[in-house]
Amino acid sequence: MSSLLVINGPNLNLLGAREPGVYGVLSLAEIEAQLVQQVQGTQFTLRQFQSNHEGGLIDRIHLARTEGVKGIIINPGAYTHTSIALRDALAAVNIPFVEVHLTNVFARESFRHHSCLSDIAMGVIVGFGPLGYRLAVAALMEHLMDSGGFDATIPRITPKR
Ligand code: DQA
Repeated sequence: MSSLLVINGPNLNLLGAREPGVYGVLSLAEIEAQLVQQVQGTQFTLRQFQSNHEGGLIDRIHLARTEGVKGIIINPGAYTHTSIALRDALAAVNIPFVEVHLTNVFARESFRHHSCLSDIAMGVIVGFGPLGYRLAVAALMEHLMDSGGFDATIPRITPKR
């Protein structure tokens, strides 16, 4: 089994209650449950983490290295736009990651247009609400299978395209 880590940053613990017109009505627990369901029956397991603290997020990213996490899905919340430390942590552990935003940050205030992380991300998904996390999990699973970066416990069958 290979492990993926989903990280949510500040204020995302309030999803469902926080500006539902902007961020939707699903709670973080409901979004996380969808992701657990998504990986069921695959070669991947999920770890999930949320913190409102920059240092907590950085410590969790460091831990991922020692746990052998193969891919990270991260919605860094507002730290996206400010945190060089978060960028450095992701660069340091050298684990492929997908940056996710529920909202289309480019259609919002200009201070949300800049990301400290996007240029070192495998990809960025914005504007699809909770679906964005599922798209990111799918993208990482496919990427890791294509690159052989997963621990196969059953023989791998390459699908015909
Ligand atoms: C967000 C966008 C950020 O600008 C904001 O600070 C958030 C949520 C999103 O998911 O759309 O907290 O990352």
